[in-house]
Amino acid sequence: MSASTRSNLFDQLSQDITVKDILIDVGCGRLHDLIDFEYSEFKTLKGLDRNLYQPFRDYRRIKNLEHTPELHRHFIKRFLLRKIDFREYDFGSEQFSLIICKHVLHFYSDNEKLAYLELFYNAMQSGGLLFIKMNHNKNVDNTDLQHMEQIERTVYRNKTNLDDVRYLIDADSFLNSVKEKYSLLENHTIVDDKAVSFVIRK
Ligand SMILES: C[S@@+](CC[C@H](N)C(=O)[O-])C[C@H]1O[C@@H](n2cnc3c(N)ncnc32)[C@H](O)[C@@H]1O
Repeated sequence: MSASTRSNLFDQLSQDITVKDILIDVGCGRLHDLIDFEYSEFKTLKGLDRNLYQPFRDYRRIKNLEHTPELHRHFIKRFLLRKIDFREYDFGSEQFSLIICKHVLHFYSDNEKLAYLELFYNAMQSGGLLFIKMNHNKNVDNTDLQHMEQIERTVYRNKTNLDDVRYLIDADSFLNSVKEKYSLLENHTIVDDKAVSFVIRK
């Protein structure tokens, strides 16, 4: 997605953020969302991704900045990044003010999704927020049979990358199960043609 069409997650959430200690982006990818928070009041910005290769290069590319030692020092001080599978990371309890997990959970079964939501919830401070976005079963790209093979009713596998499996939820019923257990900030529940996003407040 180009910078101009991406929505800024900090702008989207800032009105509802009340605690600003540690933010963690689980599956941070190329850092787009972390960069939205670069100059926010969060004391610590963390990011985890099992495919983290040259994050400083991604950062410079997104911001269109030249490599300088000062910039690199700023980068490593501001962004605490780890190349790790989040399932092996110790999230601990009640420490995160904001957890972002965007475009990640559709790679996991529905039971796993709910287990990870619980893991994240337990790791949040009181008053903290959990932002989730994942693809749903009406996503035309993930269900395009030219590129994807349907292996179960709601599970699709990429024909050219067999490790790339999408477990696509029905947005309404998944939201209903989430609402049974957690308190959602309703103005952040968005279902578009590809994905569903919602915010849980602890
Ligand atoms: C589609 S990308 C989304 C990146 C970013 N969150 C965004 O919205 O732009 C999914 C990311 O999740 C990461 N990911 C998926 N499963 C993961 C896991 N178990 N542990 C760590 N990272 C994971 C992938 O490496 C990839 O960078």
